Amino acid sequence: METCVAVVPGSFDPVTNGHVDIIERACKLFRVVHVAVAVNAAKEPTFTRDERVEMLRLACAHLPEVTIGTFDGLLADYAVAIRAGTIIRGLRAVSDFEYELQMAHTNRCLAPDIETVFVPTRTDYSFLSSSIVKEIARLGGSVEGLVPDGVRQRLREKFEQR
Ligand code: COA
Repeated sequence: METCVAVVPGSFDPVTNGHVDIIERACKLFRVVHVAVAVNAAKEPTFTRDERVEMLRLACAHLPEVTIGTFDGLLADYAVAIRAGTIIRGLRAVSDFEYELQMAHTNRCLAPDIETVFVPTRTDYSFLSSSIVKEIARLGGSVEGLVPDGVRQRLREKFEQR
């Protein structure tokens, strides 16, 4: 396991500025930050795997430490396979903590050598989620400042198609 490699997992459907904030801050702590898009999360995604990866590529283009991949299965297995020593999770509010703690314990049980590190989200993004952003876009509101520019365009196209 490499302590200098961290994985930032999520469904990123789509990536928001809150996610980018966590990824940027992870880059200050780790030499390589691998953003892992979960393909078979329990949720039915709005964007395809390739669309989510492409939006992340645009959003992280300024971060040379970042690599992006997808996984289908257990996060713990994926983290071991890419030799990550750390799983990074953002915490937006106390309400996130219970679920995140359960996930951290589960991942530790499955892969004892991998640590979970929680990074508190910036307060101005603490209310953000991918669903909130999609709801605003679907109803014709502005998502400026909430998502990277490339994502704004993709949201517009996605909801115009419907
Ligand atoms: N800024 C903005 N939004 C954020 C955020 C941040 N910093 N952190 C989380 N969110 C949002 C996400 O966009 C998401 O919004 P949505 O519910 O509207 O889509 C929501 O908060 C939940 O995000 P998160 O907790 O990261 O869940 P996720 O679905 O994106 O990812 C996995 C969860 C994929 C990492 C997890 O389910 C997993 O590891 N699955 C693999 C299977 C496995 O290993 N299971 C056993 C481990 S318990």
